[in-house]
Amino acid sequence: MEKKRVAIIGGGQVAEKVHVSYYGSREEIELAAVVSPNADRAKNFAERNDIPHYYTDASEMYAAVKPDMVSICTPNRNHYENVMLALENGCDVLCEKPPAISADEARKMRDAAIQNNCLLAYNFHHRFADDVTIIREKAEEGMLGDIYVVKVKALRRCGIPGWGSFTNKEVQGGGPLIDLGVHMLDAALYVLDFPKIEKVTAKMYQKIGTKKSAGTLGEWDPEKFEVEDSLFGFVELEGGRLLQLETSFALNIKETSIMNVEFCGDQAGATLYPAQIYTDEGGELVSLLKREIADADRHQKSMRSFVDKCLGKDVMVADGEQGYVIQQLIEALYESAEKGESVSL
Ligand SMILES: NC(=O)c1ccc[n+]([C@@H]2O[C@H](COP(=O)([O-])OP(=O)(O)OC[C@H]3O[C@@H](n4cnc5c(N)ncnc54)[C@H](O)[C@@H]3O)[C@@H](O)[C@H]2O)c1
Repeated sequence: MEKKRVAIIGGGQVAEKVHVSYYGSREEIELAAVVSPNADRAKNFAERNDIPHYYTDASEMYAAVKPDMVSICTPNRNHYENVMLALENGCDVLCEKPPAISADEARKMRDAAIQNNCLLAYNFHHRFADDVTIIREKAEEGMLGDIYVVKVKALRRCGIPGWGSFTNKEVQGGGPLIDLGVHMLDAALYVLDFPKIEKVTAKMYQKIGTKKSAGTLGEWDPEKFEVEDSLFGFVELEGGRLLQLETSFALNIKETSIMNVEFCGDQAGATLYPAQIYTDEGGELVSLLKREIADADRHQKSMRSFVDKCLGKDVMVADGEQGYVIQQLIEALYESAEKGESVSL
């Protein structure tokens, strides 16, 4: 069998740690090229990872290498142009999260994938945990009853990233909501099978990033801290369900970090990481299902799904349509917080 040729667009840390390291483990895949704007860094990346070609211009790479599959690992602002170019060149695409900066971009990306008959998947890796599969199945079987409240937390106490462009609003599109919250929103909506979103209300703050300059994830310039450091939202879903969101890079809470979703049903409740289901019997908490440790293999499972799907297997990926829904939700939360009023979808 001929190997599938893969190109990496954006030779940064997630490209190396997650994408390249996974592709290297699959014998059906050949790492063919990397594209990054800085020639020296692109060259180093290629040499370090045994990639035969490097480019600073993606169009040149497509003309010369003609890859079958592409990983888009650039900063958020550059996802759209790079996904569109990859799809125009007939490639199957795995794009890092968030899908894009705006819902309009995510919609055009979804449509371009359909028009070009290519796969478009997003690396929402948290939904690939076994814990999520378990809770989704148990919820579908009715173990939780009617799930009417969902609590989504993607919180850091002092975790403003000190590298990359995470505090730059233009490049990233926002702060913890678009960077961290997006992961847990995807996991929550995936468990619920993407119900219709009706109304969104949010409030955001910039209270710590503009005052402090260092935390557990490095140092930043408080004068260039342009994004929210926390955001809180209420998302009204069809059927009267409520999703409550808390997300932060910096917030004075006790825990260093929380990434989890809690589902409250009228029969039982559940947490995702690790998967646990519990209920109340006469005032006592009773465990119905208890995993001790959450699946740590999420990135590999997400990558495996993308590769297997490209090889023709019928497996789940976070697809272009779901990416569009998530991006609409992110945009509506920011719009509500900026305007100080609810936004209907
Ligand atoms: N799924 C996850 O858990 C996860 C984890 C980390 C990062 N990410 C996402 O991955 C993306 C990259 O993050 P990172 O931490 O690797 O950042 P990074 O800064 O380490 O890497 C980005 C790379 O893209 C290159 N680049 C910039 N503009 C480009 C362009 N127009 N064309 C090609 N390359 C370009 C940069 O030079 C850099 O090498 C972001 O969208 C981020 O949200 C996802």
